[in-house]
Parts: sequence; structure tokens; C-alpha cells
Amino acid sequence: MSLAVKPSLPARRLHVITRGCQMNVYDSARMADVLAPLGYAPAAGPDEADMIILNTCHIRDRATEKVFSELGRLRQVKMARAAEGRATILAVAGCVAQAEGQEILARAPYVDIVFGPQTYHRLPEMVAQANRAAGAVIDTDFPAESKFDFLPDAAAPQTAGGLTPFLTIQEGCDKFCSFCVVPYTRGAEASRPAASILAEARRMVAAGAREITLLGQNVNAWRGKQPGGAARSLAWLLHALADIPGLLRLRYTTSHPRDMGDDLILAHASLPQLMPFLHLPVQSGSDRMLSAMNRRHSADDYRRLVDRLRRARPDLALSSDFIVGHPGETEADFEATLSLVRDTGFAQAFSFKYSARPGTPAGGAPGQVPEPEKDRRLQSLQALLREQQAAFNARCVGLTMPVLITGPGRHPGQVMGRAPYLQPVHLVGPAALIGQEIPVCIAAAHTNSLSGVLKEKACA
Ligand code: SAH
Ligand code: SF4
Ligand code: F3S
Repeated sequence: MSLAVKPSLPARRLHVITRGCQMNVYDSARMADVLAPLGYAPAAGPDEADMIILNTCHIRDRATEKVFSELGRLRQVKMARAAEGRATILAVAGCVAQAEGQEILARAPYVDIVFGPQTYHRLPEMVAQANRAAGAVIDTDFPAESKFDFLPDAAAPQTAGGLTPFLTIQEGCDKFCSFCVVPYTRGAEASRPAASILAEARRMVAAGAREITLLGQNVNAWRGKQPGGAARSLAWLLHALADIPGLLRLRYTTSHPRDMGDDLILAHASLPQLMPFLHLPVQSGSDRMLSAMNRRHSADDYRRLVDRLRRARPDLALSSDFIVGHPGETEADFEATLSLVRDTGFAQAFSFKYSARPGTPAGGAPGQVPEPEKDRRLQSLQALLREQQAAFNARCVGLTMPVLITGPGRHPGQVMGRAPYLQPVHLVGPAALIGQEIPVCIAAAHTNSLSGVLKEKACA
């Protein structure tokens, strides 16, 4: 009997450049998984790569212009390789590809493939087509099928953070906030089935994951189906995930205040694996602005929600997103945002100047706020948020907290970890601790990190 010899695939190299949110980080890793069976392994850099994917973000600023300047640089790489007789497939993925696919093909004819966030399971076909055809391949459908039904099992470790991977459970958005492109680039809200999420989580844990962050544009809008047809919520899913042996910690992001159900609030009280840190964007503290933004909740609704969360989990720390200078925002509206920040107290937050996005309701709205005014408001909001972050980190000093050791530290003999509140923690300790959750006494606070000592040694 002769054994069939598997034809060996040509060794090819892939380089993926990722911009934008954590969902893009997850997608980039999955694109690599889809291409691995074709023989693509990671390249050391773009000039080593037979295929380059630029995974783009469209959320703010001059997103499209940035993509074109980045593509200009990649064109040079492609030309230099061509001069050496080496071909390069150049692909543009993600939210700019979805929104501006045709413009990319028109303005950057050296791009071979353009595809959106919902079609990358079809990459092998696109690559085959690009190799065959002259002219570019474009696939920016919102297909009826879900990519999750077609993606191969994720390779392990699934992302650079093998111990702390992301897992996409929900995608898209039906909220249509006035300022935001996501509903147009990612499509309608869609939940991934529980069985597929649980299977991926088990594989991640088997490959070494200790903390999983569930991802979705509106992660708390996740819905599953019970066998009888009744709906299951994110709280149910968190409980099911918490039953996986070896999975020590759970997080979920990003949540919309309107979708924080009672059972999800309760999960913060009853699930020790659920970390006491929640990213809950509010955008503004002015009811007038919240209504113009189509957020469909008031500033007091947010305050009440935070109270209920803190009653469920008294040590819960909060993070948020803010936009200053949305069309129509007055000084009084901005002051209302500062009050909400003072009332709530955030452990960290992201704040942005409103950036008009083509095709969104606010994009062409009257009352656009002048740029210098937006700058001034952003600086004053960020100063307050920095103060709150420093105060929060300072309050951690002297506490003993469970820290997940994630890797080697900056100096020999040191390791790095992640606190429940997401700050990086520096400490002296052996590399053998990597992958373990251990009690650490926090000795000092820095701007964006903490340092500590192993609890058995000493405590401040
Ligand atoms: N789904 C998430 C937000 C995703 S976008 C949510 O609803 O909370 C991340 C953040 O980018 C938003 O929370 C918002 O603060 C900011 N953002 C979105 N569009 C923006 C725009 N046009 N200008 C400035 N910031 C924007
Ligand atoms: Fe954008 Fe609003 Fe949807 Fe968040 S909820 S993705 S801000 S439209
Ligand atoms: Fe950017 Fe798309 Fe994420 S616009 S923030 S990459 S969903």
C-alpha cells in the first residue's frame, strides 16, 4: 500500500497591518487563519510579504486620506519587490474598504483586492481570482451567510495576547447614533450562536487563554436562542463561559447603556470571573446633545444605571467614551458633560473631537462647532479625566489585588501582569508565574500603570 503524499504548499508570507478597534484586531487574526491553509505564514515585515492586508478604520478624522497615504507607501514596497521579480498581492480590508471600496479601486489601481468586514471568509476565492485575473477583485457585500459559519477554527494562540484573547460574539449596529459610521460599515446587529462562541472559548482556554474579552459593537445586545426558541442574553452567555474550567476572567466590550439588562447588572454581583471594570460609553452629559446624538437615554438614566451597577458590584470601575463639539453643542452642554464626569468618577476614558463622517445624519447638520473651540473643550475634558485616572490609580496603592501575569517585564527578573481594572502591573517575579493569577500588593501608581510586589513577600 502506498501512502498518499500531501502536496507541499508553496511557502508564502502574509503581513497584516491593523488600524481601528479591537474588532479589527480580531478580524486580522482570523484573516491569517483563513489564509494559513493556502500556505501563508506571518512575514517579518511588509517587504518580506507575498500578500499585504491593510485592515482599515473609518471612525474619525481623515480616515480615507490616511489610507491613501499608507497605500502610497505600500505601493513603493510592491514596486521594489516587483523589481526583484517577486509578486505582491495588496489588499485593503475593514471599514474604509466597506465604505469607500470603489474610490480605492479608482484612486489606487495597484490594489489587488478590496473586501469588507463581513466577507473575509471568502478570502481564498478572492486570492485565487486575483492571481488569475487582471484587474482588482472587490467583495464588500453584506452576505446572507455569516462568516462565522465558514471560518476555520482559530489558530492558537489566536492573537498576540494568547493569555488574554478577544472573542467576537456580536457585530454590527442598529442604533444609528447621529455621528457614527459603524452601522454603515459593519452592517446590522447580528449575534453569533452560543455553541460557536463556547466552542471557540474552549479552544482558546485549551491553548492557554486565562482571560477572554467578549467583543461586539454593542456586545450587550447579544442574543442567543434557547432550543424552545426563547431568547438568551449576554448574562446567560457569561454564566455559560464561566463554567469553562481554567477560564479565570471574563470581560465584555463595548456596551450601550440602553442594553444593560437587569440580569447583566446582576451578573456583576454573582459572577466572580466577571472583572469589576466596565467600558460604558456615554458620549455626553447634556440631554439636548444625547437627544441630538440619538442615544435614546438621558444623562440621569446613565447616572441611575451606574448607581445600580455599583450597588451590584461596589468595587466596579468605569471607563467611557466622550465626544466634544457634536453639531449644536453649546458651552452649557459641554459643562453638563463635565458635571456628569465629576458625578460619576471614571477610572479611565477616551475622549474625541467630533469628526464629521460622510453619510451620517450629523455630518452635514447645521451648528458645526469651530475647530479651536473643539480643541479647547477636549483639553479641558481630558485634564479632568486625567485627574480622575490618577486619583483612581492612587487609590489602588496599598490594595492587594489578583493580577494575571501575562509576560516578561521590561527588566530581567521582572514580569508584567494585568489588574482587574485593566491597568498593566509591573513586579519582580519569576517567569514561571506567567499564566497564573496571583495576589499582588500594589506599591505605586504611575500614569497608565501600577507596580506591585508579590503578596507572600511583603505588602505596603
Ligand atoms: N459601539 C460603541 C462605539 C464604537 S466607536 C458604542 O456605541 O459605544 C468608539 C467611539 O468612537 C464612540 O464611542 C465615540 O465616542 C467615538 N466616535 C464615533 N464616531 C465618532 C465621530 N464621528 N467623531 C468623533 N468620535 C466618534
Ligand atoms: Fe456607533 Fe452608536 Fe452604534 Fe456605537 S451604538 S456603534 S456609537 S451607532
Ligand atoms: Fe473603526 Fe470599523 Fe472598528 S470604523 S472603530 S474599525 S468598527
